Amino acid sequence: MPAVWDDPAVDWAAFDLVVVRGTWDYVDRRDAFLAWARSVPRLLNAPGVLAWNTDKRYLAELADLGLPVIPTTFVAPGEPLTTPEAPELVVKPTVSAGSRDTRRHAAERPDEVAAHVAYLHAAGRTAMVQPYLRGVDTAGETALLYLGGRYSHAIRKGPLLAPGAPASSDLFVTEDISPREPSAAERETGDRVLAAVGELLAGEPELLYARVDLVPGPDGSPLVIEVELTEPSLFLDQAPHAPERLADAIAARVP
Ligand SMILES: Nc1ncnc2c1ncn2[C@@H]1O[C@H](COP(=O)(O)OP(=O)(O)O)[C@@H](O)[C@H]1O
Ligand SMILES: [Mg+2]
Repeated sequence: MPAVWDDPAVDWAAFDLVVVRGTWDYVDRRDAFLAWARSVPRLLNAPGVLAWNTDKRYLAELADLGLPVIPTTFVAPGEPLTTPEAPELVVKPTVSAGSRDTRRHAAERPDEVAAHVAYLHAAGRTAMVQPYLRGVDTAGETALLYLGGRYSHAIRKGPLLAPGAPASSDLFVTEDISPREPSAAERETGDRVLAAVGELLAGEPELLYARVDLVPGPDGSPLVIEVELTEPSLFLDQAPHAPERLADAIAARVP
């Protein structure tokens, strides 16, 4: 039965298990969302997982473990802005989903980069600055889906940031999705990321679902753009039997 997380009429304790899906609107209310998550007796992914995953500073923890992550500079409010060397940059908030408030800037427009960062800081948000990886323009993004801890399927997501376009304020932007067979390097990277997340979140209940998003770096090898453990689009319609695999994984976790 679908229910809305901020609906006060829902008795969450009445469910054998609550599975998070499509809660895109937590971005503006992360504290309320995490407080709700902690109040649900049986929730997957678990509240501690959601807390870790809803702030993209987790990318630095993955990088520290040696995983190939897009080089990222985090700039909290009050901190000086330093930008990586690249012809184009991406600025986005650390708490974000659906490409909201995310934009691609030409490096020769440092004024635009600074204004975007200042806009995020004015709202008390930490900004992330990355090189724009042009491989995404042709190859797109590869998302690997893991259900019940096992690899299920992968999709291709087309590029989302047009040069010069303003940042989207919509809940999410429309995505161009198709099935994709991941390369061996992408599969290996996805598996390594999942293992590293398991290490970082040891003590938390096992993941019910996970999505690892990869884009080709300058030399073509895959770099992690995000790990989605919260409200992921799982693209179940893109692979035969993926819905059954999720249903089986959920059934296996019902207490
Ligand atoms: N460094 C980057 N290089 C190329 N494209 C990027 C980069 N960062 C973000 N994008 C584009 O913006 C989209 C949204 O960014 P992402 O980091 O996935 O945030 P979210 O999906 O949580 O909003 C990506 O799907 C990708 O198309
Ligand atoms: Mg994304």
